[in-house]
Formats: sequence, C-alpha cells, structure tokens
Amino acid sequence: MKKEKNFEPIKESRFPISLFAIYLVVLLWMSGIHTGLIVLMNRMAWNSLVQSIIPMVYWGVVAVALTLFTRRKIRAAYEEPMHKLAQATSRVANGDFSVYVPALHTQDKRDYLDVMIMDFNKMVEELGSIETLKTDFVSNVSHEMKTPIAIIKNYAELLKADHITEEQRQEYAESIEGAAMRLSDLISNILKLNKLENQRIIPEAEAYDVCRQLCECILQFEDAWEEKEIDLETEIEDTAMVEADESLLELVWNNLMSNAVKFTEPGGTITVKQTADDNNVRISVSDTGCGMDHDSIDRIFDKFYQGDTSHSKEGNGLGLALVKRVLELSDGDIQVYSEPGKGSTFLVTLPAAKGSDKVDGGIR
Ligand SMILES: Nc1ncnc2c1ncn2[C@@H]1O[C@H](COP(=O)(O)OP(=O)(O)OP(=O)(O)O)[C@@H](O)[C@H]1O
Ligand SMILES: [Mg+2]
Repeated sequence: MKKEKNFEPIKESRFPISLFAIYLVVLLWMSGIHTGLIVLMNRMAWNSLVQSIIPMVYWGVVAVALTLFTRRKIRAAYEEPMHKLAQATSRVANGDFSVYVPALHTQDKRDYLDVMIMDFNKMVEELGSIETLKTDFVSNVSHEMKTPIAIIKNYAELLKADHITEEQRQEYAESIEGAAMRLSDLISNILKLNKLENQRIIPEAEAYDVCRQLCECILQFEDAWEEKEIDLETEIEDTAMVEADESLLELVWNNLMSNAVKFTEPGGTITVKQTADDNNVRISVSDTGCGMDHDSIDRIFDKFYQGDTSHSKEGNGLGLALVKRVLELSDGDIQVYSEPGKGSTFLVTLPAAKGSDKVDGGIR
C-alpha cells in the first residue's frame, strides 16, 4: 500500500500553552478573593480559629476545582483516545479487521496521537488484506484439489465394477493417472512458490550461458508444438552470459514456452528472440495465439488466475506467479504486450553477467 504523504506540520505535544494562562488568571483571581476574605474577616473581627480555618477550606475548594479541571483535560487529551485505541486493539486481537479509529483532529491540526491512530488504521487494513489473501489462497488450493480428487474417486469406483472391458479399464486408469499428475503438479508448484516467496537471495547464482538453456528448453517442447502444427522461429545468439540460478530460470522459460504452445491455435507461430548489450540480456517469447485483454494482463501474475477458461483444465494458474517471483529474485523484469485475438509477447530482461565475454575459458 502506498504511504500517504502528509505535508502539514505535526504537533509534537498535546500540552496546550493556553493552560498556563488559564491557571495564572484563575490563581491570581483566587488570591484576590483570598485577600478580600482576610480583610473582610478582620473587619468583622471574627475569632482567630475561624480566621485560620476559612482560608484553609477556601484553598481546599480551589485545589479540588483545579484537580477536577486538570483531570478533565487529561481525560479528553489522553485517556479517551487511548481507551478507544485499546478497545480497537482488542477487537483486532479477536480477528475483527474492519476496525477503524477516526483521527481526533482535522488534517491541519494533527498531532502525534492522530498520526499514531492513522498508522494503526493502516496496519489493521494491511493485516486484513493479508488475512484475505490467506483465506483466498486456501480456498483456491481446495478448489483446485477438488476436481482431480473427484476424478480419481469416480474412476476408481468405475474400475471396481465387474464387467468392464480391457479398453475401459485402460481409459479409467489413464484418467486416474492424469488427475494424479495434476495434483502432483499443483502441490509441487505450491511448494516451489512457497519456497521462493520466503527466499530473499538466490543462493545458487552463477554466470552461465542463457542461450544454451533457451535452446534446450525449446527442444523439450518440440513434440508439443509439432503435434499442434505450430511454426517455431528463433533468433538466438551463440552465447549470452547471465548471473542467476540456472534451475530457477528454467522455470521461467518452461512456463513461457508452455503458455505459448497452450494458447496458440494449430497453424500459429511462436517466436523466441534474444538480444544482449553490455548491461542486459533480453529474451522475448511471442505467439500468434488468443492474446489477452487489459483486465487479464493486469491479473496474469496473480496466483491461480486463469483468464482463458477453455484451457483452465490444463494447469492451475501458478506458472506466471512463479515466473514473476523468480525474476524478482534474479533482479530481472518481465513485460507483457498482448492484444485479444492477435497474440502475446512476454519480454524478459536479465542483468548480464559481469565479464560476460568469457565463455568456457575462451574469449569471444
Ligand atoms: N501466451 C499467452 N497467451 C494468452 N494468454 C496467456 C498466455 N500466457 C498466459 N496467459 C493467460 O494468463 C493466465 C495465467 O497463466 P499461468 O501460466 O500463470 O497459468 P496457466 O498456464 O493457466 O497454468 P499453469 O502455468 O499453472 O500450468 C493463463 O490462464 C492465460 O489466461
Ligand atoms: Mg502456465
């Protein structure tokens, strides 16, 4: 969440200077009355005991009045806002994140207590959104698990029947195998994502040739693109060194390639291009597939987001979330250019390895 900019000066003290003036005026006034009382008592020639008791009672009353006044001020300035904050904190502790404590003053008269209250509100809002994310994540995982589990259960039931042909047995077993694979992919992607989200540095980062890795990855998809009669074009240099974790970047190319193959209709084209300069290596994966609208582009890196429902059975929508996280950890970047019906381009930028002209002990 963006931090709200506050240009108004913030009062660092809640002590009103006017209080000094009030006390001074009141005490001067009370001393005046005291002197008046003494003069009056002398004139009336009251006995000395009464003359000493009356001023004591008088100052006792003044002290009580001043104490009550000061208490009221302290209550309004500190106790009431603190009490409200304590009540709000206790509601948050019990899981209610809808709590909002209004600031005590308007924007131009804010003091440090107002700032504390506003920060508290922000904290609660953040906590609430984390809680929502957690709940969404659990419900997404449960939803993604339900379908394959139901398939396994139903086909296992069918397999138990006495009179099924060999062909049917084969078909049911394959369906169970497919659903089990889907579950296993889901769990391994969740584990990978969880590990990457808790990771801050890339431990295995070392300089390696990303062009070789790209070619190997493209070859892995050869059966898939040939089966769909998709044309594959490449413009890749001989070598380009990046400093990153090779096994993590493999996730990036695999996901981008699998998406390109998945979302491109038979007869389409996939183009993989790579360029490099002194600072960066750029790799783009373009396709002439279904493309995406603006709303989808905004959400494709969210966990479990699947825009094109016709392919939702393939995968779980975790691929691009993984890609994004890997690139964040690798100091890289990804950009998406897409138009519905025309195709998509995913452009990945990675920092080039320092001294990257050295390849396999030789100089290019
Ligand atoms: N090349 C592409 N063309 C069109 N849409 C795409 C493309 N790549 C991604 N998308 C959209 O982004 C969504 C999210 O992609 P992502 O890779 O995260 O999930 P997935 O491919 O559906 O599942 P998974 O990667 O877990 O197998 C896809 O469901 C699709 O709607
Ligand atoms: Mg994918």
